[in-house]
Amino acid sequence: MTSIAPERHGPSRDAARAVIFHPVWSRDRANGTAPDARLAEAVGLGRAIDLVIADQALVPVRRSRAATLFGTGTVADLGRRIAAARAELAIVDAALAPIQQRNLEKAWHCKVIDRTGLILEIFGARARTREGRLQVSLAALSYQRSRLVRSWTHLERQRGGHGFLGGPGESQLESDRRQLDQKITRLRRQLDGVVRTRALHRAARRRIPYPVVALVGYTNAGKSTLFNRLTGAGVNAEDKLFATLDPTMRGLVLPSGRTVILSDTVGFISDLPTELVAAFRATLEEVVAADMIVHIRDISQADHAARKASVEAILDDLGIDGAGDQGSMIEVFNKIDLVDRSAAAAMPVNGWAHPGPIAVSAMTGEGCGRMLRMIDDRLTAGRPIVGLRIGLDDGAALAWLYRHGEVLERADDDRFACLRVGLDDADQARFRRRFPSHGGDGGIFLE
Ligand code: GTP
Repeated sequence: MTSIAPERHGPSRDAARAVIFHPVWSRDRANGTAPDARLAEAVGLGRAIDLVIADQALVPVRRSRAATLFGTGTVADLGRRIAAARAELAIVDAALAPIQQRNLEKAWHCKVIDRTGLILEIFGARARTREGRLQVSLAALSYQRSRLVRSWTHLERQRGGHGFLGGPGESQLESDRRQLDQKITRLRRQLDGVVRTRALHRAARRRIPYPVVALVGYTNAGKSTLFNRLTGAGVNAEDKLFATLDPTMRGLVLPSGRTVILSDTVGFISDLPTELVAAFRATLEEVVAADMIVHIRDISQADHAARKASVEAILDDLGIDGAGDQGSMIEVFNKIDLVDRSAAAAMPVNGWAHPGPIAVSAMTGEGCGRMLRMIDDRLTAGRPIVGLRIGLDDGAALAWLYRHGEVLERADDDRFACLRVGLDDADQARFRRRFPSHGGDGGIFLE
């Protein structure tokens, strides 16, 4: 059985010593996945839950073994490394079948978790809101249940030859499964309630029409650091993966004076287990509903291109054109303070000689002003410009226009202000309803 205990998603426990093995299949070497970077990422994930990583290794695998994943000799070698490292936990950075996990635990005399188990632990340690915690518990229970079902099927198959049904082991598993099912149903119901409340909040926010700008990116790309810099909020930014689990939103005033809601989202990760994608859909709905998505990339990482691809794949899953760089999506290179600029500028497409991406350092603030102007421009681009004549005594209408539109020009005479304003169609309609004397027929002129 896995070490994942769904109720135990509080702060991390006492530091445990762990080893991390990243299996490398021949096909990985062929398709260009950088195993070193993947191992480093797994180590980062381990540290994110305060594990002491006492040893780590890339482990070549020619052929996966059904019983133990690795061949017998490799299992023994790794067992010796675990003993030498005095580790109580071994993380195999791949998907392990339940039987493989159990056999490895027996062979290595320590707890073994796979990649899904590790990510679940991290999500568990990081979940802060009620919704986040419920989602993690649900994902962990579903994961456990799938393990139970599969191991049960396995036992059944073993016994099948003897026509042996029932028995204490099986009924125990059955009742475990029933209990898990009940817990899952209960959690789903609670989660539905929370998600409904959130949908109401979102609907309420829609009535105050501030565009939502969502920061997305690979875990550790620097989203929270940037979010803090831009909004001055005290969001948890740590040199740990998944410091952000629940979306955090803050108002932000752009250089034009337009207010947007900036949303900091959970970090993306490659090979995110399907159970987790489903469980976190509600969190990611904020991204789907966003008016603009800013993809933050840690350009100092050797495998930044692969990370970009996995973020875009997840965005695609959510029905967002992740690769689309026009309109509602912009790409930001972060951590430029860490890279050699001449080398980066020479990159064929990804250098910031390329007009698309914006280069920033969330740490030093460099480039942030330019990035905000770009967000501003993108939000404004394509917005119709209207001409209006408003009485100077009508402060409410003027204030409304400043709040919801972008006032591009203004000329006042004794009684009237003549304005050119960038105003969305929806806002034009709202203005007409709200201020019929100005916005009614003839009062608002499209340019
Ligand atoms: P998750 O919550 O895991 O998704 O991470 P995140 O994308 O929110 O990253 P976070 O802001 O927590 O930053 C991760 C680490 O990178 C922290 O140690 C930051 O201090 C560091 N960092 C962020 N931006 C920069 C930068 O521009 N330059 C440098 N040198 N470090 C940065």
